[in-house]
Amino acid sequence: MELFNDHKKLFGAATIMFLGLTMVVAIMPAIHNQNNNKPLPGTVEPGEDVIKGKAVFIASGCVACHTQQVRNIDMDKVWGSRPGIAADYANITRTDFWRNTATLMGTERTGPDLANIGNRQPSKDWHLVHLYNPRIVVKESIMPAYPWLFMVKKEPSKNDVVVNVPASYVAGKEGKVVAKKEALYLTAYLQYLRQAELPDGKKAPEFLYKQAENQQANKSSNAAAANGQALFTANCQACHQANGEGLPGAFPPLKGSDIVIGDKLQLYVDIIMNGYDAKQEYGVMPPVGSNMGFTEHEVAAIINYERSSWGNEGKEITPEEVKRIMEAIQLKISK
Ligand code: HEC
Ligand code: HEC
Repeated sequence: MELFNDHKKLFGAATIMFLGLTMVVAIMPAIHNQNNNKPLPGTVEPGEDVIKGKAVFIASGCVACHTQQVRNIDMDKVWGSRPGIAADYANITRTDFWRNTATLMGTERTGPDLANIGNRQPSKDWHLVHLYNPRIVVKESIMPAYPWLFMVKKEPSKNDVVVNVPASYVAGKEGKVVAKKEALYLTAYLQYLRQAELPDGKKAPEFLYKQAENQQANKSSNAAAANGQALFTANCQACHQANGEGLPGAFPPLKGSDIVIGDKLQLYVDIIMNGYDAKQEYGVMPPVGSNMGFTEHEVAAIINYERSSWGNEGKEITPEEVKRIMEAIQLKISK
């Protein structure tokens, strides 16, 4: 055949086919995607700190262990309130002229997915301690420590953000651990990572391949399924620790706490639903219950677990009591 004997024709034909295929499989789909996917109305534009934080995230190699994509399969349910959709990524643009878009969706999940970490863990204090050394708050963590995002200062100034690191973790140096600006940017980025809500009336795609045990749990009533210990582990343990002793200077102990064992039930429920910032020596507790949409059954299960653990001996309470308080608090907030 002549085509194969004439190198000009052969390479010309190959070039045209290459350009044509590139149009069809890469450029046209990309244009279609850009025209048909806009960021959801609830999406917040990243501020300057967040953009710098993303650069620290990239430079630190966090994507090696963390994904940012909630797949539409049942086992991903714990990482977000809905599966991710194309619109979630529609406001991501080129890093700069020289560098392409870093979507950071990731391929390896050695640690948890971070697509919704800002909702799951909104606490700045927690992120800073965790980045300094994950083992301080999660004993069995295999995540590397990032101490170079911090420095030890003998006398921190007023503007320094001091991180409450237990003395045993500050090897051989005297002073307080202070967050460098990189750590603050990175934390701002982690707090920014949230799944935006779908517009009213739009249904989220379903989680597929439901696991047998979950189907079972959905069928049985809320009351029976609310397991206090599991709820504590998933929602409270990161800060208050498995032994209920908290972390001195950062998170208060629930073991022996007046609020936990005493009869200030209204305050207790209020703290769980709306967060707490009362004492100078501790950080701020985020509104864990509201973020997670706890029902009265779940709140009661957590309270009963905390009241009967670590040597605590508090009165058992019922979901009905909690429900009444939740309604009263709701009234107070909406007023
Ligand atoms: C070698 C793998 C690895 C690397 C690299 C890594 N992590 Fe992790 N990460 C983990 C593991 C495992 C966990 C779960 C245990 C824990 O909470 O420490 C985790 C937990 C987390 C959590 C808490 C997630 C949750 O749902 O509670 C955050 C936030 C986080 N990592 C951020 C980062 C950031 C930011 C970086 C980069 C500076 C990073 N990680 C680098 C493995 C890693
Ligand atoms: C991100 C970290 C964090 C998480 C998660 C968290 N807390 Fe807290 N919690 C705190 C901090 C910080 C305080 C102290 C606030 C203050 O006094 O200023 C606190 C205070 C409390 C107190 C008051 C203790 C006392 O004696 O003053 C109770 C009770 C409590 N939390 C219960 C819970 C429960 C239940 C959960 C889970 C549903 C939970 N917390 C999850 C950080 C956290």
